Amino acid sequence: MLTSHELRQKYLDFFKSKDHAIISSASLIPENDPTVLFTTAGMHPLVPYLMGEKHAEGTRLTDVQKCVRTGDIDEVGDIGHLTFFEMLGNWSLGDYFKEEAIEMSWEFLTSKEYLGLDPKKLAVTVFEGDDDAPFDEESKQKWLSLGVPEHKIAALPKKDNWWGPAGQTGPCGPDSEMFYWVGESEFPDESSNPGTDEDNWLEIWNDVFMQYTKQKDGLFIQSTQKNVDTGMGLERTVTVLNGFSDVYQIDTMKPLVEKIEEISGKKYGEDEEILMSMRVIVDHVRTASMIMADDLGVAPSNVDQGYVVRKLIRRVIRHGKKLGIEQNFCVDMAKRVIEIFADVYPEVKRNQDFVLREMENEENKFRQTLEQGIKEFEKLLKGFAMALEKTGNKITEISGKQAFKLYDTYGFPLEMTQELAQENDLTVDEKGFNDAFKKHKNLSREGAEQKFKGGLADHGEMSTKYHTATHLLHDALRKVLGSHVAQKGSNITADRLRFDFTHGEKMTDEEKKKVEDIVNNAISKKLAISMEEMTVEEAKDQGAIGLFGDKYGEKVKVYSIGAGDDIASKEICGGPHVENLNDMGHFRIKKEESSSAGIRRIKAILE
Ligand code: ALA
Repeated sequence: MLTSHELRQKYLDFFKSKDHAIISSASLIPENDPTVLFTTAGMHPLVPYLMGEKHAEGTRLTDVQKCVRTGDIDEVGDIGHLTFFEMLGNWSLGDYFKEEAIEMSWEFLTSKEYLGLDPKKLAVTVFEGDDDAPFDEESKQKWLSLGVPEHKIAALPKKDNWWGPAGQTGPCGPDSEMFYWVGESEFPDESSNPGTDEDNWLEIWNDVFMQYTKQKDGLFIQSTQKNVDTGMGLERTVTVLNGFSDVYQIDTMKPLVEKIEEISGKKYGEDEEILMSMRVIVDHVRTASMIMADDLGVAPSNVDQGYVVRKLIRRVIRHGKKLGIEQNFCVDMAKRVIEIFADVYPEVKRNQDFVLREMENEENKFRQTLEQGIKEFEKLLKGFAMALEKTGNKITEISGKQAFKLYDTYGFPLEMTQELAQENDLTVDEKGFNDAFKKHKNLSREGAEQKFKGGLADHGEMSTKYHTATHLLHDALRKVLGSHVAQKGSNITADRLRFDFTHGEKMTDEEKKKVEDIVNNAISKKLAISMEEMTVEEAKDQGAIGLFGDKYGEKVKVYSIGAGDDIASKEICGGPHVENLNDMGHFRIKKEESSSAGIRRIKAILE
């Protein structure tokens, strides 16, 4: 058995031996990035470096990145889709390109010292070419030279073999993916490859060759810096390497399956419904716990990341009900998640109390909501009875709108409303419910697409100014309110900045004015901005603030605004920043409000 821990270690060791610097996983909550709620791939936190910003650790990097993808949430329950997963990656920032990347991938997969996979069970895909970019002949030739037979190299279109940009514009390019045979027979036959026989091959690794930049006008231009971004799905790879039939059997998942079996008294896979519910519970508890365990401290709420956490926990509780669990159980599950990851991601250990406390609160709250929902349902019944008395009309159906209200406000899934309806000799207008549901979903999708507007790679001038203003604000808040102020979240668009920070009370008008004055004073002095690379420890010694999640000895960039007595900020940060404070405009706080318990939120503009 190869464990997740062993795979992580082997991967990092291998790339270290190829001169890559090991970097820590970035936060699951993107910092200073308005376009996405979560880090969905290893490349997200590295976009500035893919665009030419210098990385403190050099041009060859490797990491294990925590990722959350909620786009496929409805697929959870199958053998391989997870909303939280770990992605192994190696990066070339204008260093090596296709040949070396492919060579290293092949060596890691097949060499006895590392994964030792049988080449006969491997196949690859390359980009077939279209109007934007030609067929990826170089990758194909490289695979051939390594001994991969031609019939195991499938050429596929953009929808399969192209990655990025992560937003609407930015770095992107053709990719070459590696697949492992998961068919019934021991080996694939000659005609089988991921293009002809996709169900029998599982993608385990993706080498992306970022040689293009997608522009606002939709055109793809050759990038000046050519990068490599690779991603290997940890859970899937451990699954296939061990010959398991689903991801829930690997070492980071199985203890959770066992726990839910113990709590429910049912067996995983006992029947299809139990299987599905257990998979959803395991997946969602893991994801909710890992989001909350991040240093940025996301608690369940009605907005942004907090809303995702809330939805995940509610689904867990509802699936728990399907398994017959009526008492609180999320905390017991979350404890297991913490046990599994505490030694892998130090922040999980640091934030465990917060996770367990918020999980318990949320479960209590939701169980109360469910009770209220039952009351609401009873009100409906009373209304029906009254209508019968008054008009003689017997209502036999709960309308789509009513069912949707139960779903949306009280968290009742349709099946639950149907069950209650049945007990009362009523039916539910399922079509009406689905229509209301679809309308709602489309609206929220539009909302989500809005979030992507501008693109992850949009380091436009205004965003950069707001990023610099955020540093000034952070420092000014510490001067005015005290050194307990720490960043809990940042979100920047071209029109404003938003900054969440720890502070127990509402700010007074006077405090807000002081903060504005400090920031505007720094701007009026047109201070210059400088950057130095140093280890996390050196940064701390020099009094830099920022997230110290990085591992011991890791090199980071420290940005200073001003110098000497006129220092207006010194903070660990990836950049980018403006070069000086000329033309920043006037800084104004538009709103100061509570974000969650003990956390305040400021929205501010430059005008
Ligand atoms: N960014 C690439 C992916 O997520 C490696 O597949």
